[in-house]
Amino acid sequence: MLIPRCDETVAWGALAGHYEAHGRDLDLRTLFAEHPDRVSSLTLQAPEVTVDMSRAHWDVATRRHLLDLARECRLAERRDAMLQGALVNRTEDRAALHTALRAPRGKGAHSELVHDVLDRMLAFADAVRARAGGDQPGDIHDVVNIGIGGSDLGPQMVIPALDAFTHTKLRFHFVSNVDGSDLCEVLRKVKPQHTLFVVASKTFTTQETMTNARLARQWFLDQGGQHIERHFVATTTNVALADQFGIQTTFGFWDWVGGRFSLWSAIGLPVAVALGSEHFRALLAGAHAMDEHFFQAPPEQNVPLWLGLLDVWYRNFKGYTSRCVAPYAHNLRRLPAYLQQLVMESNGKGVDQDGRVLPYATAEVLWGEPGTNGQHAFFQMLHQGSDVIPLEFILVKKLPRREDGHVSQTMAEMLETQHRMLLANGLAQAQALMWGKTMEQALQERPPTASKELPPEVMARHRTFAGNRPSLTMVLEALTPRSLGALIALYEHRVLVSGAVWGINSFDQWGVELGKAMCNDLLPRLESGDASGLDAATAAMIARLR
Ligand code: F6P
Repeated sequence: MLIPRCDETVAWGALAGHYEAHGRDLDLRTLFAEHPDRVSSLTLQAPEVTVDMSRAHWDVATRRHLLDLARECRLAERRDAMLQGALVNRTEDRAALHTALRAPRGKGAHSELVHDVLDRMLAFADAVRARAGGDQPGDIHDVVNIGIGGSDLGPQMVIPALDAFTHTKLRFHFVSNVDGSDLCEVLRKVKPQHTLFVVASKTFTTQETMTNARLARQWFLDQGGQHIERHFVATTTNVALADQFGIQTTFGFWDWVGGRFSLWSAIGLPVAVALGSEHFRALLAGAHAMDEHFFQAPPEQNVPLWLGLLDVWYRNFKGYTSRCVAPYAHNLRRLPAYLQQLVMESNGKGVDQDGRVLPYATAEVLWGEPGTNGQHAFFQMLHQGSDVIPLEFILVKKLPRREDGHVSQTMAEMLETQHRMLLANGLAQAQALMWGKTMEQALQERPPTASKELPPEVMARHRTFAGNRPSLTMVLEALTPRSLGALIALYEHRVLVSGAVWGINSFDQWGVELGKAMCNDLLPRLESGDASGLDAATAAMIARLR
């Protein structure tokens, strides 16, 4: 497939011209006034997720040029090549077939392999759940996932997100940091005879994970734990190394599953234990529905396509360097951390597939916190700071509720009110970002604190908001396994769209290797004090830290 680099396409030039002519000064308030149908034409429905893109900084011409860009960069062919198992991860000579993990039996690539492991894993998960919280040795109360990056962030995000669906007699813990305090904090709370350790590592060689796994095994033996083979299981592509570690129950996956796309594989085991097989299958089904949308919906209605193209427009033309994600749902509190790996490990690249150094920017910084907490921390900057930072609201229409008896009728009503407050806060922030407040409006108000020194005009200046700050709003009807699956898959595909436009390999992560190798060199030096051949700063630090 001979594909021009994005900056060599006609559409790229057209976007640059459009930016100079109109795109730089797009004002949301004018766009809304000029196009009464802006909301309806820019609110798209993907499976389980409604996305309002009307408050994004783009107009009809921007979108027309972006669709041309998608065509010239042959996005549809690249997307289909991924689905068909082409070796799209060229530097590792691998396919990227995470979509096969959520395809129904008989449908995706490697179906038999995928469904064999899935069935076995779900049978195991249901068996753990059946005896959860019991008094007999081997009845599980706590599940400790030991893994990092893609072997940690997915389950760590999904389990609280679906709290209303999780087994009430099980607690879940996530240990990732090589800092021993991480594991020790968990070990203080659990009992060996009632704990299941899941050693999660695609490679089964990751320093942090293997070190913590050994420490957990030592603790288990020190505490007189019996039947280690029932209390340690592994999820990995490297069954031989898990074997060598002494683990007998292993759920495998394959090199064509990237770490940050592996939630749907055996790496999802803690999620399966938390939710049970039925809900885990619903999570997969939601993601599969989004896959079908991405692979089949026409470009004009294709939500991941639009979001990925918007990211390119923002990064390369509008010059926005970061994007903030604010889920207005406490249960989605780990989503920004999950998305950080997805976006920045996938698209934080400086060369294209052929190794050419790129003259244009790639991944934006992704960050965020749940609303309303973020409002009381960094929203100040979003409203009045010198940088324009697009904000993404995720709103959930229905309150998640567990029928577990500790909520009285009166409390239930109070919780409904709180949920409305949450939604009102999200709506208000989007409104405030867009409309801002003029000097005239500020002058007419009586400020909550009146300064004795500052004249009213100066006070009013501090209280004006330029407005025209862009945002997106995603709405889920309810936070369910199905809708969460769809939401995560939407984010995955969006990343692939921008990565494909930029012509980069979104599936490798060579950038993490250099530090790992240097760490292996420094570790013995911290013990011996040998600083020979090191730079002066590192040598001085070694001396200080010994
Ligand atoms: O940080 C690099 C990385 O390779 C991630 O891509 C991956 O998710 C993580 O480390 C963990 O790797 P593993 O699952 O092999 O332990």
